[in-house]
Amino acid sequence: MKITENFSLKAFNTFGIETSARWFASFSSADELRKITSSSVYHSSPSLLIGRGSNLLFLGNYPGLVLHSTHQKVRVVEHDNSTVLLEAGAGMLWDDLVAYAVKNNWWGIENLSLIPGEVGAAAVQNIGAYGVEFCDVIDSVYVLNLSTGQEMKLSVSDCGYGYRTSIFKTSARGEFAVLSVRLRLSRAAEPCFSYPHLEEEVLKRGKADLATIRETVIAIRTAKLPDPVVLGNAGSFFMNPVVPVEKWSQLNKEYPEMPNYKVSDHQVKIPAAWLIEQCGWKGRNLGNAGVYEYQPLVLVNRGGATGREIADLAAHIQQSVDERFGIQLIPEVNYIG
Ligand code: EPU
Repeated sequence: MKITENFSLKAFNTFGIETSARWFASFSSADELRKITSSSVYHSSPSLLIGRGSNLLFLGNYPGLVLHSTHQKVRVVEHDNSTVLLEAGAGMLWDDLVAYAVKNNWWGIENLSLIPGEVGAAAVQNIGAYGVEFCDVIDSVYVLNLSTGQEMKLSVSDCGYGYRTSIFKTSARGEFAVLSVRLRLSRAAEPCFSYPHLEEEVLKRGKADLATIRETVIAIRTAKLPDPVVLGNAGSFFMNPVVPVEKWSQLNKEYPEMPNYKVSDHQVKIPAAWLIEQCGWKGRNLGNAGVYEYQPLVLVNRGGATGREIADLAAHIQQSVDERFGIQLIPEVNYIG
């Protein structure tokens, strides 16, 4: 067990912000993590668990201990004629897990191809894309209770999953570290084409097999979302707002062209990208922070941006959208500091 002092987090946040942690430690097992949590550094400083930082915005240097899992193994726990139960370490790159499943012809996570970040963070954030969410395929999440040192198995319902949220972000924030997750994948072809654009694009390529779906998702994402290695970003910066149907009818009278998706009989989801574009933010910059020209829901680091600059741009966008539409955009990205 090694705790490093003054550790640069530039490689641990996809915004590519120059920031550092007072202390940093990685762990590959529950035992290693227990050793860290019994150290004096852990007891005397705040702590933060991170994956690859693909959903974090550091507003300054982190004054405490940053913890990172390096458990990257994947194994088949059990299988039968129709399904496979896989266990993957929290530190495995999410897209490596997707590639592994696709290569083995196991269905369920192909629509989540190319989402940045690690398996543990996927369980915290309930990542989603093209009609599939992490919670649709998850069997259980193995965690360490950071105050008792006890290992626990949490079921899907224990995790309280919702749109880009879970108990790990809300009621149990800071309580657990994800050690590994178990996913149930299917051997039978079960394409999810609830996102119409995906089906069209897959059919253009001729066949709806796993490799083609993965390839198509990668092509769509690459066209719309900047590669964080080239242009720092954290994917969608805000969640798509869900409004009561009454509010939507009001807005619809004024903006009949406003895109919308029914969530339930009472609620309608409106794409934040459309709201931001209508407010004239698409492609604009404020200092070194910018709004991506091909997908305005993505805020980018134009080079040398600080976390505060990005947060400042986000606040301006929130204000514009609120003034024009009376809708409060909520960041999907977690602010640290
Ligand atoms: N739109 C515009 N202008 C644009 C781009 C989009 O008006 O320049 C409007 C269009 O109406 C479009 C709609 O926004 O139909 C939706 O756009 P898109 O399909 O790109 O998806 P999104 O709602 O912006 C969500 C997720 C993404 C996920 C995609 C695909 C959230 C916050 N974002 O984006 O997730 O990849 O759908 O399923 O739910 C992420 O969470 O980091 C992320 C990238």
